[in-house]
Amino acid sequence: MKKTVIICVDDESVVLVSLRDQLRNHLGQTYDIEIAESGEEAIELFSELLEDNVEIPLVISDQIMPGLKGDELLIQLHQGYPKTLKILLTGQADAEVVGNAVNNANLYRYISKPWDEPDLCLTVTEALRSYTQDKQLIGQNKQLQILYDKAQQEIVERKRFEVLLAEANQTLEHKVDERTQELSQAIENLKATQNQLIAQEKMASLGTLTAGIAHEIKNPLNFVNNFAQLSIGLADELIELLTEQKPIVNSEDWVYIHEILTDLKLNAASINEEGQRADSIVRNMLLHSGGTVGQFQKTDLNILLDETIQLTYHSIRAKDVTFNINLETYFDSTIEPISVIIQDISRAFLNMINNACYAAHHKKISQPTNIVPIVRVTTKKLPDFIEIRVWDNGSGLPSEVQDKLFTPFFTTKPAGEGTGLGLSITYDIIVQVHQGKIDVNTELGEFTEFIISLPKQKLGNE
Ligand SMILES: Nc1ncnc2c1ncn2[C@@H]1O[C@H](COP(=O)(O)OP(=O)(O)OP(=O)(O)O)[C@@H](O)[C@H]1O
Ligand SMILES: [Mg+2]
Repeated sequence: MKKTVIICVDDESVVLVSLRDQLRNHLGQTYDIEIAESGEEAIELFSELLEDNVEIPLVISDQIMPGLKGDELLIQLHQGYPKTLKILLTGQADAEVVGNAVNNANLYRYISKPWDEPDLCLTVTEALRSYTQDKQLIGQNKQLQILYDKAQQEIVERKRFEVLLAEANQTLEHKVDERTQELSQAIENLKATQNQLIAQEKMASLGTLTAGIAHEIKNPLNFVNNFAQLSIGLADELIELLTEQKPIVNSEDWVYIHEILTDLKLNAASINEEGQRADSIVRNMLLHSGGTVGQFQKTDLNILLDETIQLTYHSIRAKDVTFNINLETYFDSTIEPISVIIQDISRAFLNMINNACYAAHHKKISQPTNIVPIVRVTTKKLPDFIEIRVWDNGSGLPSEVQDKLFTPFFTTKPAGEGTGLGLSITYDIIVQVHQGKIDVNTELGEFTEFIISLPKQKLGNE
């Protein structure tokens, strides 16, 4: 282990040797005592020793020397090695020199020459103790600083972790939210598909039922029509025969028989006419009751509506020649085809247009005014929906009717004119099967407007 060194500086070698010996006696082997005979030599010695990593706790220098003076030496050393303690030996108390050394070299003590050996030894012991203490303090400070730095680092780390944790928590929450949303969306889709399937099945079985009934009626109806036509023919033949027999038959009887035959022919014609009407109803029923679950197909609603309007108008006209209304259409030409089940949607439109025509026409009949009966059908493209409005200037809807509009078999029409199924089926088709909605606007005595909104993008299965 390298020793620590105390440097003594004096130009008088006798004094220098005595100083060294006294210190050696006092300090024993613990410290090496090195000597220098001038300030310059001391500086050289200092840097040599430090190069060898030798520790120099104390330097004792004489003040009055040729060349570098004691205070100058100590000031110079202090600039390079502030930790080394400095003691100045002065011939006579020179306040100015001491003051200079205290202020600029952090002088530890000055000792007057000739010195008192015990005083010198005490001072040196004290200086070395103070140096060691300072060193320990510095060491402890260093350790404290290290601990402080470590603690500081830990705080920074912990903060970083806290931030990371908060971020991770947020991400987790976000993910949970996303998953929950996805799940509820999936459930929604599932429910929608389920409702759609149920409604489609319902429509299909209703269709099958209608088709069955229509089929059953069709045969007897054919008989009725055929025999009515035959009866007309037979009545014609009889009338012809009767005409030939006119000269030989009693004229009163002849007129009577002719009247009866003519009535019979008219009756048969009426039966035939009504039968034909019944036949067209049955044909219509068969036409609209596919009886199978329909397929979704991209469809141009404007075209479909136009066809449905024509069909409705003419089928009403066929039954009632007095029927006459203004049919207005305002179609948005920018709407793109959307996925619908054609026969179902057209049935829904047909029901609504039928109701509107009926309402407008009947208002005109029941309270003849100058007002022209109007049915107006409008289409419009909205961001997510296609909107179809069916407007009529009929009687409007009383609130008790509004409450039951979509209830199956609810009708205000006279027996035989309405089944009360139209809007209930329409509701199933629009809301359940096509995930759309139906809104109603009305003013009693003024108008009724049904607003159908069909989603552009279909939910559930295609
Ligand atoms: N545009 C309308 N104006 C006035 N009343 C209406 C209109 N549409 C429907 N209603 C009322 O709602 C009732 C139910 O209509 P819905 O279409 O379900 O059955 P319906 O027309 O009576 O019979 P169906 O359509 O089966 O032949 C109608 O009887 C009528 O009172
Ligand atoms: Mg109806």
